[in-house]
Amino acid sequence: MSKIALITGITGQDGSYLARHLLSLGYTVHGLVRRSSTHNTERLHDIENKIILHNSDLTDSLNVVRLVQNIQPHEIYHLGAMSHVKVSFETPEYTANTNAIGTLRLLEAIRFLGLSKQIKFYNAATSELYGQNDGTLKNEESAFYPRSPYGTSKLFAYWSTKNYRESYNLFAANGILFNHESPMRGKNFVSRKITCAVAAIAHNQQNKLHLGNLNAKRDWGHAKDYVKAMHLILQHHTPDDFVIATGQTKSVRDFLKQAFAEVGIHLVFQNHGIEEVGIIDHINADCFFEKTQNTPDHLSNGQPLIKVNPDFFRPNEIEELRGDASKAQKELNWKPEVSFENLVSEMVAKDLKNQKC
Ligand code: NAP
Ligand code: GDD
Repeated sequence: MSKIALITGITGQDGSYLARHLLSLGYTVHGLVRRSSTHNTERLHDIENKIILHNSDLTDSLNVVRLVQNIQPHEIYHLGAMSHVKVSFETPEYTANTNAIGTLRLLEAIRFLGLSKQIKFYNAATSELYGQNDGTLKNEESAFYPRSPYGTSKLFAYWSTKNYRESYNLFAANGILFNHESPMRGKNFVSRKITCAVAAIAHNQQNKLHLGNLNAKRDWGHAKDYVKAMHLILQHHTPDDFVIATGQTKSVRDFLKQAFAEVGIHLVFQNHGIEEVGIIDHINADCFFEKTQNTPDHLSNGQPLIKVNPDFFRPNEIEELRGDASKAQKELNWKPEVSFENLVSEMVAKDLKNQKC
């Protein structure tokens, strides 16, 4: 009999990669989907007939209890969350209800239904728990200092997971994942916002990109590598918490340079702070043609493409997050496969193909 997995947040970036990964391993995959007036199962279009979807919402306790009881999963991958850091400053109560209490609802459902011995529980924790930037590599022992309503909601979820493990002997584990991206990334996260803009600018559908903090550095990996770690964490002999990261950081400015260079547009940056602009230094027309099947006649050297807009800053910025995944490497035999350069290249290539980004 195949193992049964339940994924909350299956319609999101990670949910869609994890569902494919678990299907490839022979799992029966159930997913929770919240009602939307627009189509929100787009990322699952090619596997929708291979998985079982249920209407749900993490803010609805009885719904969550009923579904866990009906599905009787062996493994729960709890990925559902209001996951946007800047938006969490605007919707702090909803963020706490979904992310913090939503996690508690699931843990309580398992306990209340008497399924603590049957179910393994994975919680999607985050590098945002660390917050405060002191320039050090973060590992499982590093202190937490969240700096957003998102971060504090995830801190509650992290400790609830740990407490249910220690209090009720539940196999409950936290994956403390650093930023991971992919062509499936939401378009309001910086990586995808940039790669969509590269495609739109190359196709002459947009002429500028407005961004916030260009100095911010993140430890960027590929989502398809990171969902493998989620599965490995639940196969470990004991429930434990693991940092999942590449150990290397790049700034938003580095991401921009790399992404535009993919289509032969080489950027230089001038001025500082909110006056900073990214302008075209030169264009490699052969590369531009190879990637877009077009000529760059609508673009010229010296043209400003990137502008800083204070609207995209957060009330509290985290300047750098860099993780040390050596415990995962040693105990789970996990390491990232996709380099930063290949990640950016894949994202740009996919967005160039999309008719509408
Ligand atoms: P994502 O693309 O934003 O997906 C979030 C998922 O949660 C979506 O399926 C969303 O549904 C669902 N959701 C939101 N509110 C919900 C609610 N009230 N009830 C039920 N479902 C709800 O996020 P992701 O990048 O895949 O991240 C997956 C998880 O990992 C999240 O918990 C995130 O906080 C965490 N995480 C992400 C990263 C990263 O770099 N990607 C790093 C560390 C931790 P809709 O599709 O309907 O919006
Ligand atoms: N979104 C966004 N939009 N971010 C911008 C922009 C912009 O226009 N301009 C600069 N940034 C900067 C942000 O200030 C941040 O420092 C960095 O780019 C990355 O922002 P996001 O891509 O929104 O990701 P995040 O790091 O805030 O949060 C993501 O990673 C966390 C793990 O560290 C999310 O996936 C979280 O759910 C996840 O927990």
